[in-house]
Amino acid sequence: MLLNLLIKFNEDENKKMVDIKNVLVLGAGLMGSGIAQVSLMAGYNVKLVDVKDEFVDNGYSKIEEGLRKLESKKALGEGVTANAILAKCKKSIDLATAVKDADFVIEAVIEKMDVKQKVCKTVMDNGSSHVIFASNTSTMSITEIGKNSGAPERVCGMHFFNPVPLMRCIEVIKGAATSDQTFNTAMEVAGKFPCLRGDRYIAPVLKDRPGFIVNRMNSPVIIYLHWAFDEAEKRGIPWERLDADAGGKMPMPPCVLTDFTGIDTNFHIMNYYKETLSPDFEPGKVITDLYKKGDLGQKTGRGFYDWSKGRDAIMVKIKNAEPAGIFDLNTLFAIMLNEGCRILDEGIASGFKVIDEANMAGMNAPGPFGAGKKNYAEWSKILEDLANKTGKKYLKPIELMKSGEFSKMRK
Ligand code: NAI
Repeated sequence: MLLNLLIKFNEDENKKMVDIKNVLVLGAGLMGSGIAQVSLMAGYNVKLVDVKDEFVDNGYSKIEEGLRKLESKKALGEGVTANAILAKCKKSIDLATAVKDADFVIEAVIEKMDVKQKVCKTVMDNGSSHVIFASNTSTMSITEIGKNSGAPERVCGMHFFNPVPLMRCIEVIKGAATSDQTFNTAMEVAGKFPCLRGDRYIAPVLKDRPGFIVNRMNSPVIIYLHWAFDEAEKRGIPWERLDADAGGKMPMPPCVLTDFTGIDTNFHIMNYYKETLSPDFEPGKVITDLYKKGDLGQKTGRGFYDWSKGRDAIMVKIKNAEPAGIFDLNTLFAIMLNEGCRILDEGIASGFKVIDEANMAGMNAPGPFGAGKKNYAEWSKILEDLANKTGKKYLKPIELMKSGEFSKMRK
């Protein structure tokens, strides 16, 4: 009886949430300024921290600009002014002091493991005994970041999508040592951040695996695209004909999208997954050549396309081109379904509904499970053929997809 009471007491203690009032956003760059803006709009007291005054000031100016624009559109709510919201934002370049009264820290510093580990330890060494450290990393292991912090149970992931005020999805990630209380508190905090384009969707990521949910599911599509680029080059087919294969059904067809994201980013993403998921993520020849030449896409004016005459000129060329018959959208969905099944299989998401919703909220694109429930058998055949044709074993359908058993794993 006494033991039962004790267990019950401990469970209740674990569920008890700390009342979060003070949020510290670390890193005032692109993501940090967006995160600070939505934290302020959620009603939190915010401290914006970076390494130099000018970086903090730049971030603060972006927040101010965002809030003033919303105020002019009367989108801040009845009687709420940008000035009143900004009054709750403080600036600092001294993390060790600024963190003393913080309840919740969201880290958006540069994507380097040693920097993230260092700031995490500074937070745990100088912060209160309840402070939570949430990392906005897109590629790094949450477990690694918190490992030597002294309080790994209070470290979790909180992965936003760019631009933060507009993209609905936030993934909250449980590291190997993250406590339930930390995870639940982070889920609750994430749910409070407003979104300017519809309701937020908070995706619980139950295991700390590369790419979390949304990026992971989309990652092997790039293996297919690299193969398609190389195939088109081998056959001397121009890029606009390959892009015409998308039949106008993608907001940006493959070559345009890759140029837009940046050839270097694409190259680095593939290398990251090559290290963490499978050697089959080896970047293809076309992308490697463009990367080495420094033709990095839209930002350098040249990649697959010459961007000097603007995107519209490229889109007209694609519209008038004869499709190459190399790339097809069903295959793309089949690859996503297979990876979605891996996410279920590895216990990263509790059910496919989470995966589809996260993809819609994070990518503005439907996930594969809706159509996959009807098409999994046909799509499995497509993937068997594709794996043979490309020599990429990673693209082979896994048992959970082939059997259709995933359809029972809804929630
Ligand atoms: P950014 O380069 O715009 O900003 C990074 C900021 O961190 C800079 O202002 C820099 O001065 C600051 N910083 C560096 N070391 C620091 C330290 N020790 N203490 C405090 N501040 C420090 O980078 P961005 O794009 O905002 O990315 C930040 C994080 O968000 C990265 O981990 C990135 O992977 C992640 N992320 C980025 C997305 C994107 O689309 N850019 C999307 C999702 C996540």
